[in-house]
Amino acid sequence: MEKTLLVGITGASGAIYAFFLLQKLKELQVPSEVIITSAGKMVWQHEIEKPWEIIKDYALKVYQEEEISAPPASGSSEYWGMVIIPCSMGTLAGLATGQARNLLLRAGDVMLKERKPLLLVVRETPLNYIHLQNMLTITTAGGIIFPAMPGFYTKPKSLEELVENFVHRILQFLNLSSNPKAWRGL
Ligand SMILES: Cc1cc2nc3c(=O)[nH]c(=O)nc-3n(C[C@H](O)[C@H](O)[C@H](O)COP(=O)(O)O)c2cc1C
Repeated sequence: MEKTLLVGITGASGAIYAFFLLQKLKELQVPSEVIITSAGKMVWQHEIEKPWEIIKDYALKVYQEEEISAPPASGSSEYWGMVIIPCSMGTLAGLATGQARNLLLRAGDVMLKERKPLLLVVRETPLNYIHLQNMLTITTAGGIIFPAMPGFYTKPKSLEELVENFVHRILQFLNLSSNPKAWRGL
């Protein structure tokens, strides 16, 4: 059975990162399932200007945060890892304090307890002491803070290219594809 990647979408700015990641995963034939929070839906509608339901064209399943009995809530389910993209400071705090009070937080908590890859594409600026402490806690617990900080050394010509290059870094990190924009020196 081919194992599935979980993708969490929260209400941080940067829904476009999630949209591009889902498109790339489909292109690469990597099965994905999505958990989207209520704030995530709101920000998606605002920033993408398309209904969040289009996610269903890219992911095998889409769960709401209330669906606490869904498979991602259990350590016995067969996901190999999870990317939360974009990840709000609220969700970061929930994970850092083990709250598990919605499906997305529970799924992230499960990844940490099962020692599976958990990437948080955090987005906020500036960062306060609490945000930084929470990131350190997640790192200590085995999660990976993967900030939404696209590089400019690839000389992107458009917003889409900038986002695509950043998504390639995630796919490269997860060993899902090689990075066509890998640095080869000046
Ligand atoms: C348009 C918009 C942009 C937002 N951007 C951010 C952001 O970049 N980072 C962040 O931590 N929260 C941001 N927020 C606030 C979160 O959506 C809010 O804290 C929410 O409760 C997070 O819930 P969730 O983690 O369950 O999705 C934004 C909210 C809106 C409406």
